[in-house]
Amino acid sequence: MLRGLQYRLCQGTDLKTRSFDPRKNGIAEAALVLSTGGLVAFPTETVYGLGADARNGQAVASVYAAKGRPAFNPLIVHVANLDLAKQFACFNTLALKLASAFWPGPLSLVLPLRDGHGLSELVTAGLDSVAIRIPQHPTAQALLEAFGGPLAAPSANPSGRISPTNASHVMADMNGKIDGVLDGGACTVGLESTILKVTDTDVSLLRAGGVPVESIEQALGQKLLVPSDPATPQSPGQLQSHYAPHARVRLDANTIEKNEVLLGYGPDCAAAALNLSKTGNLVEAAANLFSYLRRIDTIASDGNIPTIAISPIPKTGLGLAINDRLNRAAAPRG
Ligand code: TXA
Ligand code: MG
Repeated sequence: MLRGLQYRLCQGTDLKTRSFDPRKNGIAEAALVLSTGGLVAFPTETVYGLGADARNGQAVASVYAAKGRPAFNPLIVHVANLDLAKQFACFNTLALKLASAFWPGPLSLVLPLRDGHGLSELVTAGLDSVAIRIPQHPTAQALLEAFGGPLAAPSANPSGRISPTNASHVMADMNGKIDGVLDGGACTVGLESTILKVTDTDVSLLRAGGVPVESIEQALGQKLLVPSDPATPQSPGQLQSHYAPHARVRLDANTIEKNEVLLGYGPDCAAAALNLSKTGNLVEAAANLFSYLRRIDTIASDGNIPTIAISPIPKTGLGLAINDRLNRAAAPRG
């Protein structure tokens, strides 16, 4: 059998992207492709990840190429369990407390790399830390078990665009660029993981995400450090423009103007083309966010409407992460 990577090189950009069905033999097929250096997108509870063997430099390089991702932006390493995580990163008391409270789940920890870790340098972009997480999605768990090693997996979208929350989003964006997609249906959380950097005494929030800050502070019994200047990228990947639809985005819209289509939130949005949550439920809004951004972008482009207006969304709980993503979607494009 041709190795996934050789296969990709032979095929140039015309790679045939397969769909793997986890209810049939898809987990084993996907694990085999990954173990031969191929790229397979897989579902997690947050968003679909674009998986590659984190120890295989060529496979990881193909992830950067398929996404068009800047090489300074490191990847999250996904593992099946804490024992495996400890092979790659050093866990102190704070890190263990967070792991036991939130893993498996939508939390990534940035921790010091462990000596002899064996990860490709490309995964960490040359940093002396690694971002690591144990996803909770049963299909991700089954894939990681079958693969038996660490999977580097950024969100499976072209760099700077909207993250995918179902397999058809991945196919729309990455068909022909990756070996396969493991189709596990829609992601339940719908926002990427919360990223925390852990030091001896402190925990800093690098990216708001699927675990709300309030829950983390409660579990830790201490406050998180948050970047005082939100414009300062704390993670190399926290670029100002990200999650960008094709149309322009106007936030905190209480009215809808001419040449706009409204993405609503809450009960008072009769004019909305789509509503993230009619009852004003942030968990529902998070789960809908990326797929509704894609749908409303299509509505805008089909109707030649230049701007998507978005209703105000509360900044508590998951609303912090939703507002973070929307601010980036609205930011001036580079
Ligand atoms: O929910 C998620 O986190 C998804 C799923 C697939 O797990 N993954 C994801 O990956 O969102 P990505 O590549 O789109 O975002 C990873 C973020 C980037 O902003 C990157 O800069 C940051 O993690 N990151 C990775 N390693 C880091 C490190 N050592 N130090 C600081 N930030 C790091
Ligand atoms: Mg991403």
